[in-house]
Amino acid sequence: MAAFLRMQPASGIFMLACLFSILTSATATVLDKGKLVSLDGINYWVGEVNWNWNVSDIVPLTVIRTNVSTFTSGTLNETIASFTASDDVFGLGFLEVIFLQYDGQGQGQIDSALDLHSKIGGNKLTFISSEYQSQPPFVQANLQNSLPNGPYFISPGTGDIFKVFRLYSDHQLAFTEGALSDEMGGFVPLPAAAEGAMTKSIAVPSRLYYTPTIDRPLAGLRCGVKDIFDLKGLRTSGGNRAFYDLYSARNTIGSSIQRLIDAGVVIVGKMGTVQFANGDNPTADWVDFHCPFNPRGDGYQAPGGSSSGPGAGIASYDWLDIAIGGSMRNPGSLQGIFANRPSTGAIGLDHILPLCHDIDTVGVFARNAETWSTTIHAWYPNFTDYQKYPTRIFYQNSSFPGSDTDAGSLLEALVQKLETFLGARREYVDIATRWEETHPNDAPSNLTELLNTTYAILTSVGQYRSLALPFYADYAAKHNGRHPFINPGPLKRWQWGQNNGGDHTYNVALKNRTIFRGWWETEGYGRANLHTWSEGLYIYPYSKGERQYRNVYTSAPTEPPMGFKDGRISNMADVPDFVVPVGEVPYNSTVSFKTEYMPVTMSFVAARGCDFMLANLIRDLQTDRILKPVSTGPKMYP
Ligand SMILES: *[C@@H]1O[C@H](CO)[C@@H](O)[C@H](O)[C@H]1NC(C)=O
Ligand SMILES: *[C@@H]1O[C@H](CO)[C@@H](O)[C@H](O)[C@H]1NC(C)=O
Ligand SMILES: *[C@@H]1O[C@H](CO)[C@@H](O)[C@H](O)[C@H]1NC(C)=O
Ligand SMILES: *[C@@H]1O[C@H](CO)[C@@H](O)[C@H](O)[C@H]1NC(C)=O
Ligand SMILES: *[C@@H]1O[C@H](CO)[C@@H](O)[C@H](O)[C@H]1NC(C)=O
Ligand SMILES: *[C@@H]1O[C@H](CO)[C@@H](O)[C@H](O)[C@H]1NC(C)=O
Ligand SMILES: *[C@@H]1O[C@H](CO)[C@@H](O)[C@H](O)[C@H]1NC(C)=O
Ligand SMILES: *[C@@H]1O[C@H](CO)[C@@H](O)[C@H](O)[C@H]1NC(C)=O
Ligand SMILES: *[C@@H]1O[C@H](CO)[C@@H](O)[C@H](O)[C@H]1NC(C)=O
Repeated sequence: MAAFLRMQPASGIFMLACLFSILTSATATVLDKGKLVSLDGINYWVGEVNWNWNVSDIVPLTVIRTNVSTFTSGTLNETIASFTASDDVFGLGFLEVIFLQYDGQGQGQIDSALDLHSKIGGNKLTFISSEYQSQPPFVQANLQNSLPNGPYFISPGTGDIFKVFRLYSDHQLAFTEGALSDEMGGFVPLPAAAEGAMTKSIAVPSRLYYTPTIDRPLAGLRCGVKDIFDLKGLRTSGGNRAFYDLYSARNTIGSSIQRLIDAGVVIVGKMGTVQFANGDNPTADWVDFHCPFNPRGDGYQAPGGSSSGPGAGIASYDWLDIAIGGSMRNPGSLQGIFANRPSTGAIGLDHILPLCHDIDTVGVFARNAETWSTTIHAWYPNFTDYQKYPTRIFYQNSSFPGSDTDAGSLLEALVQKLETFLGARREYVDIATRWEETHPNDAPSNLTELLNTTYAILTSVGQYRSLALPFYADYAAKHNGRHPFINPGPLKRWQWGQNNGGDHTYNVALKNRTIFRGWWETEGYGRANLHTWSEGLYIYPYSKGERQYRNVYTSAPTEPPMGFKDGRISNMADVPDFVVPVGEVPYNSTVSFKTEYMPVTMSFVAARGCDFMLANLIRDLQTDRILKPVSTGPKMYP
């Protein structure tokens, strides 16, 4: 960094003295907010550094800890190979300075044949901890605090050592804002952006810093959070610009995200949401923000919602492990990833923007059932870990496509393997007919009549009351009576709710919901069971390779979604509904003019509270290769 302006002393000592007195008495503070640096062509973030910026004052460093009593050239090779394989942040450039820390018994030895300078092109200096026998050319040193393995930057001037974050470009627009921990329970917006058109950068720390333990089973899992969750230190947008601007940075973090952080998760940013988690279709309805990009198929299919950003991010980025959203299933199914809508009440909903807190839930996306199941177990506080699986499979025949179709044959193959796995034969069921035969006397014999508008009323009236009205009032107070901009989707839905009975109808909707829930738990397919927790599994397809091109104009939104379908069972009966990737089916893309593939997924529904059973079952199905982890990018199974 060359100075671009020099003060000429010729104009007099007096002027300089004045300037100094002004500068030293000024109240403005110049803050160092960290540095964006590049090493071997990769961009890194170095946290707040507090030194006078000078690139030659920061040097890459690798900490290598080992208990192998004699450190040989083979030990070095193995270490480098394992660092490279397990971490995307580490690079050979970090070996410029090495710190070898001996953790084993007694005194450690360094193989006299080990010549780091010639082994590693860029190595200039190697420190060894005092547990090693001193041996030139190695320099003995100690760290003030013990540091985990991995890449760092060190300032030789001060001896300060800094964590390294790799910067990735959010090219799918999955994030609304990058976040960095302030190491005090809060976050700061990531003050860096590298290259990329209209994209943000997201900073992820070295994976080598973290080792999962019993107390912190999610240590180091990189996680994005839908931008309806408050994080201390960041603003919440809810996908609305006026909302983001109106309210200041939040000073509290919600209990659900706090539990993830306590379990070791690393939050890397806030992710895109359908406005106020309500209803927007790309591209026309996404007026305020741009809709995140689903990477599957030709890359121009809708990501679904409302957790659009978390879904698109998990399907796009290997550097992101899990993402947190709301009721999950739609984006889970369109991106072909593991997605859970938990039992209602699974975890506290404080500091989360409401759609309708009477039925809202929060869930997690992952590409791998193992990671996903581990997160579910560590996250939800009050479920019982049941290892025994249900012995009945309730198969809603009319929901499945014919097994002579691409999607139908994939689903049929899975159902057959599930039958073998559980040692059970599917039972053909039909909810509408079962309802007709066994419904409570005080309810109509047509289930759709009972539930046609229930979800629509709960969400449109619930959110109008708990979010829209206070937002309108706060905005008007600050902006001389003005109304904030609202996307067409939520605006129409809120208006529809007010035109269709408002608060009074809300209570009717709650009552209808209770009627259905009671029936589902007794005469329906959600009975609890003492021995297997859930008597059966209700299964149905969630996506069948559907296309929803982003560039096809849909009709203008007029009202919330009506009617009853499989996906509403969990909304109405508070039961868990977990979507899993099954396969992918071809289509001829009108964008790429090539054969592309879109996901096929299936839903597992169980009795209320059986979330851990479902997570275990799905993890075990993956262990048996009946289900498979998915990749990022256009194909789930390339
Ligand atoms: C940066 O630090 C190096 C080494 O200490 C020094 O030689 C150089 O002059 C410094 N550059 C600037 C612009 O301060
Ligand atoms: C030595 O290190 C390995 C790998 O880091 C670890 O698994 C092992 O438990 C350690 N052994 C001792 C005696 O510390
Ligand atoms: C370590 O790796 C280097 C370079 O890849 C190789 O030449 C050397 O034989 C390896 N040493 C051992 C002991 O494996
Ligand atoms: C979980 O159980 C504890 C203790 O019974 C209770 O205080 C808490 O509210 C429960 N949490 C949820 C989300 O139900
Ligand atoms: C299942 O549905 C198919 C048509 O979708 C029908 O041909 C078949 O008879 C149904 N089976 C049962 C057992 O209901
Ligand atoms: C229930 O009512 C709806 C709307 O009137 C109708 O479309 C549907 O066929 C009815 N269902 C049954 C099982 O009669
Ligand atoms: C559901 O409710 C909407 C709005 O009131 C109405 O237009 C529609 O006909 C109803 N559908 C059924 C199947 O009852
Ligand atoms: C509640 O159920 C009744 C039938 O019992 C139906 O007419 C009404 O539209 C339903 N309302 C809501 C909001 O669910
Ligand atoms: C794609 O188009 C070709 C040529 O029109 C056709 O033969 C093929 O069946 C189509 N594939 C799919 C998956 O629709």
